[in-house]
Amino acid sequence: MMVEERLELGRLVTFIPNKRIPIHNWFYYKEAFSRDFVALVSRQLGLGEGSWVLDPFCGVGTTQLTGKELGINTVGVDVAELPVFASQVKTANYDVEQLKRISEKVFSEKFRRLSLGGLSRLVRRAFPKHVLEDVLFFREIVENIEDETARGFFKLGLISAAMKASYVVKNGGLLRIVKERNVPPFRKFYRNRIKRMIKDVEAFKMLNPKVTTFKADSRNLRFLEDEMFDAVITSPPYLNKIEYTKVYSVENELFFKGSEPMLRSYIGDSVRRTEDSENTGNMPAIVKAYFQDLRRVLSELHRVLKKNGAGVFVIAQGVFPTGVVETEKIFVEIAEETGFETERLWLVNRRVATRDRVVKIGYADEYVVFTRKP
Ligand SMILES: C[S@@+](CC[C@H](N)C(=O)[O-])C[C@H]1O[C@@H](n2cnc3c(N)ncnc32)[C@H](O)[C@@H]1O
Repeated sequence: MMVEERLELGRLVTFIPNKRIPIHNWFYYKEAFSRDFVALVSRQLGLGEGSWVLDPFCGVGTTQLTGKELGINTVGVDVAELPVFASQVKTANYDVEQLKRISEKVFSEKFRRLSLGGLSRLVRRAFPKHVLEDVLFFREIVENIEDETARGFFKLGLISAAMKASYVVKNGGLLRIVKERNVPPFRKFYRNRIKRMIKDVEAFKMLNPKVTTFKADSRNLRFLEDEMFDAVITSPPYLNKIEYTKVYSVENELFFKGSEPMLRSYIGDSVRRTEDSENTGNMPAIVKAYFQDLRRVLSELHRVLKKNGAGVFVIAQGVFPTGVVETEKIFVEIAEETGFETERLWLVNRRVATRDRVVKIGYADEYVVFTRKP
């Protein structure tokens, strides 16, 4: 297996570079990779106008939005409602004059106090009272925006502004309420955010390829035709013990009727069936379930890729109290069993792996794995 050390690319497989890039920064998603990563890989693979790329774990649509910038047709798939919504809003086409008209209306409405009854204790604790009242007030106005595309735009702005003005801190897969945080006055804050988003739409030079985002489980991609893609560029959920279930629960309760299915850092629900063995400390049960799920995804990806199509995967090693799982090696094995050839691996991150937060048990490496369907 050819491994090149490319540690200078480590930042590109995180969300950090996106923080400064218009539209990519409309919604902070810790699990995301960057626009620059997708652009780099696209260049490397010779993709351009007219190409077709799939991201089966698309998160907040980094791949689709970058494709839109580069003229590449894209399909994104994610199982969770919130990231799918963010992807759709970020890649939509907008009528700027309409957004400006709606914005004037939204921000000239007179404040009405809505009842906080019916909200969970978590949501009530997550905001200062006056902020939560503002959020509910704007939520009602936004829900009544007639045009669906514009409604999505104002809703995503509201979700991001609300979370910025909350006491919620997301940290290592956990949600914490930190009351000491300084919280900005909400109305002005939300208004500025919408203003900036409108400027972003005005400034962003996009080409006009096809972009679609599906809310679906990538273990079954029956809605996609055989051999339609030139490449897959993706970052599957990480193999680890962190539960993301709670991390987005405030957003989900406030903006998506709390309908979010349990979201975990491993792929699917077959893991749940093995949870008992997890509790007895038998970690490999999770590992096994994770790879069973990945195998199903890989065989779907093999089907939808064209001959000579490329599969590019960001794969991090998993850390368990019992040691580090060399995810990339097992991944490559499964990919080859599924019919892929491995071209190369880039080692992009090397992090110290600890047990109980302090005991060093080795390194957890992160790779970009380049495969091809022969
Ligand atoms: C590491 S994140 C990918 C983030 C993405 N690269 C971005 O830039 O936003 C993995 C994503 O896989 C999604 N996911 C988990 N299980 C899935 C499944 N069975 N099918 C489709 N998506 C799934 C999660 O919701 C999460 O958004």
